[in-house]
Amino acid sequence: MNSPFGLTLIRILQMIMLVAVMGCAASLVSSSEERSKRLAVGKSINFSENKTYTAECTSCHVGFLPGFLPERSWNKIMGDLENHFGENASLEKPERLEITKFLNLNAADKPTASVRSRKIAKMIASTDTPIRIIETPFWIKKHRGIKKYVWKRPKITSKSTCDACHRDAGKGVFDEHDLHVPK
Ligand code: HEC
Ligand code: HEC
Repeated sequence: MNSPFGLTLIRILQMIMLVAVMGCAASLVSSSEERSKRLAVGKSINFSENKTYTAECTSCHVGFLPGFLPERSWNKIMGDLENHFGENASLEKPERLEITKFLNLNAADKPTASVRSRKIAKMIASTDTPIRIIETPFWIKKHRGIKKYVWKRPKITSKSTCDACHRDAGKGVFDEHDLHVPK
């Protein structure tokens, strides 16, 4: 490899390696960019609309997003509507089945759910089947900075009244621009 040709070959090989290393670094950068983009989109909670759900499940409270609870939780809730947090929210079978299907399809633990919804589901112990969003580790973590006296304000009748603070909670909007904690 002492001939000029050998040296040129080594240079060429070095160049190829350099290009390969640079290419690799570039792809790392772009994949982390893509990842943060995906995460930004993933900040949303799974949301979808269903007329029957809106008609039957948003008269007493805001329409809770399906992507806040895993499928097993929705099934538990839908399986005992007669004893629904002290209310009788029972439905005719066709409506009950349609809503259950809608909730299951958009539940937090679906592979098709948003990154954030899947995170919410993952934070719940597999042995737990919470029927309250406010009892999920994600919700507790996000709201632990709120002082006890805030929860006692007259306009916040309960922690479940999401729309007292997140005005567009029913549409799946929870960012700080739409957050107005009542005084
Ligand atoms: C007759 C009134 C009524 C109807 C209709 C109703 N709910 Fe409720 N729901 C309640 C009450 C009351 C609570 C407890 C709210 C509280 O503690 O402030 C509740 C709480 C919930 C919670 C727990 C929220 C949390 O994190 O604390 C979920 C989930 C829920 N309802 C889902 C549904 C679904 C799904 C339907 C439709 C099939 C439905 N509700 C229809 C009265 C109703
Ligand atoms: C007393 C007002 C209040 C009520 C009621 C309330 N929240 Fe919040 N929520 C907050 C505050 C304050 C934050 C923290 C915002 C932050 O840290 O930037 C928050 C954060 C969140 C976030 C995270 C937002 C983000 O993008 O990081 C979600 C999701 C959320 N709340 C959902 C709910 C749901 C669902 C309910 C009802 C079951 C609810 N909240 C009830 C005040 C409230």
